[in-house]
Amino acid sequence: MMVRSAIVPVAGLGTRLLPATKSQPKEMLPVARKPIVQYVAEELMASGIRDILFVTGRGKTSIENHFDADPELTAQLEATKKTDLLGQVDFSDMPANFFYTRQRVQRGLGDAILCGENFAGEQPFVVALGDSILGLHAKSRCLQKMIELFEDKRASCVVAVEEVPENEVSQYGIIHPVDADGDVFRVQNLIEKPPVSEAPSRLAIAGRYVFAPIIFDMIRQVKPDKRGEIQLTNAMKMLCEEGRRVFAVKLPADEKRYDIGNFPSYYETFVEFALADPDHGPAFRERLRELLGSK
Ligand code: UTP
Repeated sequence: MMVRSAIVPVAGLGTRLLPATKSQPKEMLPVARKPIVQYVAEELMASGIRDILFVTGRGKTSIENHFDADPELTAQLEATKKTDLLGQVDFSDMPANFFYTRQRVQRGLGDAILCGENFAGEQPFVVALGDSILGLHAKSRCLQKMIELFEDKRASCVVAVEEVPENEVSQYGIIHPVDADGDVFRVQNLIEKPPVSEAPSRLAIAGRYVFAPIIFDMIRQVKPDKRGEIQLTNAMKMLCEEGRRVFAVKLPADEKRYDIGNFPSYYETFVEFALADPDHGPAFRERLRELLGSK
């Protein structure tokens, strides 16, 4: 079965980025020239995804507006002959269809995915977190590899993982690989935010997943945690415990997962992408050197 659709949850409240996210979605925060969610859409389309469902919520309409036509802006750019900019804001010839639905109450990632059940139907699908970019300027090909593995192994789930330092394992969902050699593993189990002493590896779930539709049945069985949230990791745990085929693909050493959900990581991501800007990167690098030299 070919994987051609993706669910992108963007309904979270983004409380770790307040006050920046009080009236704008964290997924629309800029990283260098583009909002985060545009990188996510570009990565999905480059991986062969042709139908993308955004699970949005209150206060998230700017995401829909971003990908929509803006006749006034187009007319203005045409009149002033700014054709280079025109190409950057006109998404009409994108190779994917965009769909939107709403998560009415923010009950966690698992619940957000459940909002896409009718969209996915009986087909396997990708989940890409709307606040994470894979690879500098979203150039990672990890998702493509995950999709190929999913189809090849007739898996129930394939997840992207990234090796994190030991002192960070307690911030992530961590996998227990059957055998940690190479960059593709069968997953025995998963644990959400384990203390260092209980972490089965340093391989953290990196915001990209491929699922068979069975995941919806699992999500429905997950009990809310103490914050009232339905955790996707718990549904994946059930897949493992039922003995279903769950695999992980490790991001190559030269590719990172850029998580924009907290300030330190957002700052770092912005600077790294800005430094790689073909026009402004070199001057920005010089300016940064000056700034750092004066400290
Ligand atoms: P996070 O786990 O970072 O949650 O979401 P959050 O609620 O947005 O952030 P904090 O903890 O309050 O700062 C990961 C992705 O899942 C989406 C988010 O929008 C983000 O893209 N999400 C999360 C939902 O769509 N719905 C939810 O109920 C929770």
